[in-house]
Amino acid sequence: MTSPYGLQGRAAVVTGATRGIGHAVARHLADAGALVCVTARDADEVRRAATGLGGIGVPGSVADPDHLRAVVELTLHEFGRIDVLVNNAATNLPYGPLMDVDPHAWREAFTVNVEAPLRLVQCAWRAWMRDHGGAVVNICTEGATHVGPRIGAYGTTKASLLHLTQQLAGELAPKVRVNSVSPGLVRTEMARFVWEPGEEEVAAGLPLGRIGEPEDVARAVVWLASDQAEWVTGADLVVDGGTRVRAAHTATAYAIHQHLRTPGTRPT
Ligand SMILES: NC(=O)c1ccc[n+]([C@@H]2O[C@H](COP(=O)([O-])OP(=O)(O)OC[C@H]3O[C@@H](n4cnc5c(N)ncnc54)[C@H](OP(=O)(O)O)[C@@H]3O)[C@@H](O)[C@H]2O)c1
Repeated sequence: MTSPYGLQGRAAVVTGATRGIGHAVARHLADAGALVCVTARDADEVRRAATGLGGIGVPGSVADPDHLRAVVELTLHEFGRIDVLVNNAATNLPYGPLMDVDPHAWREAFTVNVEAPLRLVQCAWRAWMRDHGGAVVNICTEGATHVGPRIGAYGTTKASLLHLTQQLAGELAPKVRVNSVSPGLVRTEMARFVWEPGEEEVAAGLPLGRIGEPEDVARAVVWLASDQAEWVTGADLVVDGGTRVRAAHTATAYAIHQHLRTPGTRPT
């Protein structure tokens, strides 16, 4: 059956795609007929993911500009085009009150979460998208528009990524559409320290009654990357099970923030 997305034969790069949301996005893009290039730091995992998806992979950190150039070069060399970029790889460190933040860790968070997405878009724009068009989807977070305990560095980088998304959308139109997807709490390794100890409580406080699965986010990303969203740019699609509207649903305290305040809670 032909996919309704218009992604058949298109080439897509998904950063941080060996597990979690990135892997689900790469899987859904491949299922829609796209040729996928996946990245992550663990070379064995990249090989495994690329093989499983029938695509290609490039190991490395998005913090390394040479790696980003290599990703675009290999994708063009192997697939002859680069139509979709999904900036998904990120770090949720440094964790804790901002007054205790190590400036090097702060800078690293901005390098991975904000600078790398810009650099990758620059590489793809110069090599292909400026002449042929394309679609970029940045993975932000539901928390980017408000504050929370101990996640100030992460939240600040994601708020920057949200702004970057909108700025690029204006600058690169009409050739390239640039949008973001902002997930709520999703069952992945990065967020395990939040959902594993308190899933039932968090789910009970969400209007849609459960935490997210990577596939919930992947479906939104594929839609934004596809021709189905051809008149959508600069948008942020919030996929959060109703997290942002929970105040109209329940009078209980926000379980995720309660949990983040618990002594000993931290990312693994
Ligand atoms: N899970 C949630 O609740 C949630 C909520 C809101 C937003 N998000 C966002 O969703 C995105 C995906 O997160 P996730 O929860 O799916 O995380 P995850 O399950 O931990 O997966 C992260 C992926 O990124 C790779 N990665 C990490 N750092 C990298 C780097 N510097 N360079 C290249 N690849 C890197 C990891 O592989 P290696 O370790 O081998 O590099 C892995 O493939 C992130 O942007 C995150 O901020 C997640």
